Amino acid sequence: MALQSALLGLLAANTALAYPWVSNVPGVDSSMLGPRRSLASRALPYNNVCPANPNPHVPAAPITAKYPYLGAINGTPGTGKGGVQVPAPGDTAHYFRAPGQYDIRGPCPGLSKHTDGYTAANHGFLARDGITTYNELVDAQQNVYNVGYDLANLLAIAGVGLDGDLVGTGKLSLGCDATSRTATPGNVLAEELGLDGHNHFEADTSLTRNDYFLAQGDNHSWNATLFKMMLQTCKGNCNREALSLYRYNRYQQSKADNGNFFFGPGSLLLYGAASFLYELMPTAGGTADEATMMSFFGANKTSSGDYVWNGGERIPPNWFNRVVPYNNQLVGTEIITMYAENPVLFGGNIGRNNFNGLNISSYFTNGKPNAQTASEAMCLIYQALTGAFPSELGQLVDIPVAVESAIASKLAPMAANFGCPANPNSGSG
Ligand code: HEM
Ligand SMILES: *[C@@H]1O[C@H](CO)[C@@H](O)[C@H](O)[C@H]1NC(C)=O
Ligand SMILES: *[C@@H]1O[C@H](CO)[C@@H](O)[C@H](O)[C@H]1NC(C)=O
Ligand SMILES: *[C@@H]1O[C@H](CO)[C@@H](O)[C@H](O)[C@H]1NC(C)=O
Ligand SMILES: *[C@@H]1O[C@H](CO)[C@@H](O)[C@H](O)[C@H]1NC(C)=O
Repeated sequence: MALQSALLGLLAANTALAYPWVSNVPGVDSSMLGPRRSLASRALPYNNVCPANPNPHVPAAPITAKYPYLGAINGTPGTGKGGVQVPAPGDTAHYFRAPGQYDIRGPCPGLSKHTDGYTAANHGFLARDGITTYNELVDAQQNVYNVGYDLANLLAIAGVGLDGDLVGTGKLSLGCDATSRTATPGNVLAEELGLDGHNHFEADTSLTRNDYFLAQGDNHSWNATLFKMMLQTCKGNCNREALSLYRYNRYQQSKADNGNFFFGPGSLLLYGAASFLYELMPTAGGTADEATMMSFFGANKTSSGDYVWNGGERIPPNWFNRVVPYNNQLVGTEIITMYAENPVLFGGNIGRNNFNGLNISSYFTNGKPNAQTASEAMCLIYQALTGAFPSELGQLVDIPVAVESAIASKLAPMAANFGCPANPNSGSG
């Protein structure tokens, strides 16, 4: 990224080094944190800057009295009462429209061309051009999926905090780096990578996306081979059991192929994303069957049984959202249960087939989590999001101190609910 390389020296002095103590965490093998990884994540050799968009920005289509969905508007809590049809028949503002040439999409099928897509954006619940805001994200997750208000905020804090402009404009690019359109004007330190930004909120062993270091030119788009592998593992129902196994297989694949493979505490978020397939994507009371997966992931099936990307993730026809909200407690339970069904070691490769387990005294011993509870999983995610782990571990690189503090203070009440220990970086410890 041009901006970033130009500002690298400046950034190094002002940003991720906020928590230098962490590189001395006992048990973290310094070669795992060595120049290769920090270079890779810092120097961002593969920068993904958005092309300019000649069209004017149009915000998400607001909900209306006639089509209220869950009533979530301007970042406020909605009714939590799901079982609502989305899009409502007649609500043309929220009908599917495939993204246009300049519309930005990224690695998350839930929110949305060969910059892939986002179901919610393709339905106008987020700005269709892919430059969305904090409030749009919180509203859309509730109105479309009946995500609980707590989890909707957690994900928006993580997304906008790590990849967008949480303290200023509240804006986020759903894919490539559109800093010029998301940042507060005049903020030269801003580097808002968008959701494609590797290891901010995008990690190795995704369900259907290539690992960053393995990608030969395409690291954030949908991979048809992986999608097929996933559906073969699912055998007609992408439930927890199937996705636990598939995530295990993806881990083994990355560990064998990717010399820079890294699976840190923040990777627990990927179990959360996987749970969305059976918790958020099925129509109310339905299952995560092949047709549903194909619709949300934007896939067509060919006569030979392969899948091709069809130009836009969309909500299946005649679809109703889940009845009760999917909240932090529920996702924490799914994350740890899915993990525990096929546990793997946390850590990273120092070259291919040379895996080193993490030792972080209070959390991991030789790559094994010390405790396996929903609270522990959510606390690990909280710690990862608030920079409690070494930035060189490939997570939270170059996040300005002010942003880290904002993330920490916004997440603090949720962390307290889970009984998480005070984060030494949060200013309270
Ligand atoms: C503010 C809200 C959200 C943000 C910022 C966000 C962001 C992301 C990001 C960055 C990834 C890529 C992670 C990786 O490396 O694999 C991802 C994956 C994913 N997200 Fe979201 N997400 C949000 C909400 C949702 C919702 C509401 C759904 C509901 C369906 C969803 C479904 C998924 C799925 C299924 C994946 C895994 C895709 C794959 O691995 O192929 N997300 N999300
Ligand atoms: C973690 O600690 C164990 C001993 O408990 C040690 O054998 C291993 O090498 C350590 N791993 C790292 C990455 O330092
Ligand atoms: C990642 O994707 C971007 C945009 O498509 C591309 O320019 C870059 O070369 C890719 N990186 C790798 C490692 O293939
Ligand atoms: C998709 O993923 C598979 C398995 O990792 C890989 O071999 C293949 O090269 C990827 N395809 C593309 C188009 O990136
Ligand atoms: C996918 O299927 C739809 C509906 O059958 C069709 O209109 C569209 O052209 C297909 N797209 C691709 C890329 O095969």
